[in-house]
Amino acid sequence: MFIRHDFIERSAFLLLVLTLVTIAIGGIVEVVPLFTIETTVEHVKGVRPYSPLEQRGRDIYVREGCYVCHSQQIRALRDEVERYGHFSLAAESMYDHPFQWGSKRIGPDLARVGGKYSNDWHYAHLIDPRSVVPESLMPRYAFLAETPVESDDIAARLRALRMVGVPYTDNEIANAVADLAAQSNPTADATDLLKRYPKAVTVLGNGHVVTELDALVAYLQVLGTMVDFADPAEERLQQ
Ligand code: HEC
Repeated sequence: MFIRHDFIERSAFLLLVLTLVTIAIGGIVEVVPLFTIETTVEHVKGVRPYSPLEQRGRDIYVREGCYVCHSQQIRALRDEVERYGHFSLAAESMYDHPFQWGSKRIGPDLARVGGKYSNDWHYAHLIDPRSVVPESLMPRYAFLAETPVESDDIAARLRALRMVGVPYTDNEIANAVADLAAQSNPTADATDLLKRYPKAVTVLGNGHVVTELDALVAYLQVLGTMVDFADPAEERLQQ
């Protein structure tokens, strides 16, 4: 055995060829199984595409650069889990384009901020953070409350997301405008909206115009709430 190995080591070319063959076997064993599965992200029950209003809110979150101060990824470390809740699952950001994991935490992580505060708190906080957190250094976003959210192109936005893999159905795209309106009108019938987007939180609206602030609050309120971690049967498992 050793004598033959001696022979291999003395022939540079043979050593190179055998090294490459060995590496190739390792590579094939790692890579080939990936071709047989549809996605490397395990689907988790409850995770759904964003509703039209949440998706518009997300666009505003990206546009305003909230990720410069806020991450959206709870790491599997004890102090993080105690502060923010269950660590983030890959599936929870599988429909995010682009993802907002972030790398800066000038403010707290927002991956599970949904449901932590009331809508009213978010409105007050975004209009003037110091009105609810006196020591806050977060900028004011009062102008969002005066800016109507652009929604004419919402169906096109959902179609574009579908092209990159977000599974919006034809039905969801056809109803995008109606769903956006229903989620920003507390008196509207939200039955269809909730059927399509469970756990969507209806926001204030002001009766005649939906503002960018409404959209942003709808988005913040769904963050981290899609998966029901209290129910162990619901926590994982494939659909
Ligand atoms: C300059 C940094 C900075 C930027 C930019 C920023 N924030 Fe903040 N944010 C903070 C800080 C600091 C806090 C903690 C104090 C407070 O609650 O106001 C905070 C708190 C928050 C909270 C409460 C989190 C919690 O768990 O208590 C939310 C929600 C929030 N920010 C949303 C946003 C959104 C949405 C944007 C973009 C429109 C944004 N922030 C932009 C710094 C920032």
